[in-house]
Amino acid sequence: MIHPNTELRWVNEVIGYGVFATALIPKGTIIWVRDDLDQTFTAEDVANLEEPYRQVLDKYTFVDAKGLMVLCWDHSRFFNHSCEANCLSAGYDFELAIRDIEANEELTDDYGTLNLREPFQCACQSARCRRQIAPDDIERWAETWDGLVRRVFPLIPQLSQPLWPLFREKVLVELALKHPEQLRSIRCNYSPVR
Ligand SMILES: C[S@@+](CC[C@H](N)C(=O)[O-])C[C@H]1O[C@@H](n2cnc3c(N)ncnc32)[C@H](O)[C@@H]1O
Ligand SMILES: [Zn+2]
Repeated sequence: MIHPNTELRWVNEVIGYGVFATALIPKGTIIWVRDDLDQTFTAEDVANLEEPYRQVLDKYTFVDAKGLMVLCWDHSRFFNHSCEANCLSAGYDFELAIRDIEANEELTDDYGTLNLREPFQCACQSARCRRQIAPDDIERWAETWDGLVRRVFPLIPQLSQPLWPLFREKVLVELALKHPEQLRSIRCNYSPVR
């Protein structure tokens, strides 16, 4: 489920729709958690579906640590990629705002963290654009992404967190808040193509 202070808006002809903040979202806010309404699909499930369904799943799912395709039920499935994303995961089933996100700013994450099955041509227009986002980008970027998450992770208990009740890994996160060396790496979500 996505944070309540967000809505779907049109970005442009190339990117389509995206997710925007309707109010300031401070860094350290949990902006998405995997929840019980999200659907999961195995490769076999997908192979048994008609082509139009497969196209939807190709565009709107990410692949989790177990290699399952996850289709989010709400507008979190419209998250776009940016090479300077303002939201990232820390190797758990949630994403955090890694910077303050102003009202009307688009929320973005990095598809390099989501187990892409094919390279992705990026049109994010950031000065740091990687142009092509690769399925194995996590092998090059994990330390950078982990560092960005580590800086805001301690803010979690200090902020209003409307998604916290849905969060499945409370114990692990509480442990990492007490013992920062136990904070997971984004590598924990890596599921390379075998
Ligand atoms: C999960 S959907 C995101 C929602 C999508 N913008 C829409 O309107 O349906 C992923 C698709 O969004 C587009 N997209 C997202 N980020 C992009 C980026 N940085 N550059 C180019 N296209 C992007 C691509 O078409 C991609 O396949
Ligand atoms: Zn880019």
